[in-house]
Amino acid sequence: MPAPDLETLTSLAKRRGFVFPSSEIYGGFASTWDYGPLGAELIRNIKDAWWRRVVHMRPEVVGLNASILMHPRIWEVSGHIEHFADPLVECPICRRRFRLDDVPDGKCPYDGGQLTDPRMFNTMFRTFVGPVEDDASVAYLRPETAQSTYVNFKNVRDTARVQMPFGIAQIGKAFRNEITTGNFIFRSREFEQMELQYFVEPGQDDESHEDWVDARFAWWQDLGLEPRRLRLRPHSPEELAHYAKATTDIEYEFPFGWGELEGIANRTDFDLKRHAEASGTDLSYFDDAARQHVTPYVIEPAAGVDRAALAFLSDAYTVQEVAGKPRTFLNLDPRLAPFKVAVFPLARNRPPLVELATRIADDLRANWPIFYDASGSIGRRYARQDEAGTPFAVTIDFDSLDDQTVTVRERDSMRQERVASDGLRAYFADQLAW
Ligand code: GAP
Repeated sequence: MPAPDLETLTSLAKRRGFVFPSSEIYGGFASTWDYGPLGAELIRNIKDAWWRRVVHMRPEVVGLNASILMHPRIWEVSGHIEHFADPLVECPICRRRFRLDDVPDGKCPYDGGQLTDPRMFNTMFRTFVGPVEDDASVAYLRPETAQSTYVNFKNVRDTARVQMPFGIAQIGKAFRNEITTGNFIFRSREFEQMELQYFVEPGQDDESHEDWVDARFAWWQDLGLEPRRLRLRPHSPEELAHYAKATTDIEYEFPFGWGELEGIANRTDFDLKRHAEASGTDLSYFDDAARQHVTPYVIEPAAGVDRAALAFLSDAYTVQEVAGKPRTFLNLDPRLAPFKVAVFPLARNRPPLVELATRIADDLRANWPIFYDASGSIGRRYARQDEAGTPFAVTIDFDSLDDQTVTVRERDSMRQERVASDGLRAYFADQLAW
C-alpha cells in the first residue's frame, strides 16, 4: 500500500475532525493547526503511550511539567541565543525568505532570482514580560523543553530519591520561529515535544545512547509504524547541534519523503556544567561507589507529538477494494485510536433498540471512549468510523432484544461476530488491552 499524498491526508484529517487549519474563519494563520475532536484524542493517546513506556514502565524515570516562560539567562547560558539560528537567504525580486538548506541551487524557486548571501536568523520567539517593553523585560518562548529539566535537576535530585542512571521526562509545547514551515503538521512554529533527559555516569554515555536508540526505534514499531518506512540516521559531525557529541535521528518516510520523527542525542555534561557555573548551584551527583561528585552525562531522546500524529495517520491510511468499490480506513493501533468502540442501534426510531444501545454505550463508556451514532444507513456509519480509525463497532438489532446478543464488527477485517451484550466489557477488555 503506497503512502497517501499529503493533500489526501490533509483533507481526510479535516473532514473527520483530526486537524483543522487554525483561525480558519479569519482566513487561517500561517502554518498553525488545531486538533479537532478526533485529533485531540489521537495526540493524547500518543503522549499517554510515550509516558507509559518512558516513565511508568521504568522505575528510574520520573516526570516533570515546567513552565514555558523562564529566566532569560537560561537561553544565554545554554548557548541558544548564540547558536539557535538558521541561515536565511532572501530573494531580491519577490522578497521571499528561505532557509539556505531548502534552496540548494541559490535561486528563488518562485522567480529564479539570485538569492542574497545567508545571514543567521535566531529562531527563538521573543516576548516581553510585564507592561514595559524594554531589554530588561525580554523573555523567550522555549524552543525545547530540555532546558527547564536541566535547571530543575537539583530539585528532582533532592526530592525524588533517584539513583544514577535516572531520567526526567517532560511533554510540552515548544516554539520556533521557523523560516520555512510546511508539509502540514510536520514543521510549524508551535509544536509539542516528548523529551527525556537521561542522566548517566560519564563513560557509560555511549552505551546508554545506543540502548536508547534501540528502545525508541522499537517503540515506534510497536505502535504500528511500518518498519520499512523507518530508518536510523546518525548525524555527520558538521550537522551536530552545539551541545551534542553524537545524535541519531529516527526518520520516517512521510508522504513528501524522509523526515525526522525523533532525535536521540548525547549531550554530554554540556548543559549541566554551564548552568552550574552560571548559577553557582551544585548540579552534580554524589557517586557513592567512587566517593566523589560527578556531573552526569545526558542522553536525550526527543520526539515530536505532531510529527508522530502525522506519521501514524499516514501509515494507517489504507484503501482496499471491496465489491469493486474503494473502502478507506485507518488501521490505527487500538491504543492510539481516538474512539475504541462505536455503538449503533440499527434503527433510531425504535425506542427499545435505542434504549438498549444507549445502555450498552453508557456501560462501555466507563472504560473507553465510545462513539454513539444512531443516524444514517449502517453502511455509512461503518464507513465513517473506518475513516476515524475506530477498531470496533457494536450494532444492536432486533434479534438483540430477544437473545441479548449484539454484532461486533472489527475494522480491518470487517469480520463480524455475535457477542452476548453482558459480555461486551470482558470482550473489549481482552481486545483493547495495552
Ligand atoms: N531538545 C532537543 C531538541 O529539541 P530537536 O531535534 O530540535 O531536538 C526534537 O527537536 C523533535 O521535535 C524533533 O525530532 C521533531 O519531532 C520535533 N520538532 C522540532 N522542530 C519542529 C517543528 N518546527 N515542527 C514540528 N515538530 C518539530
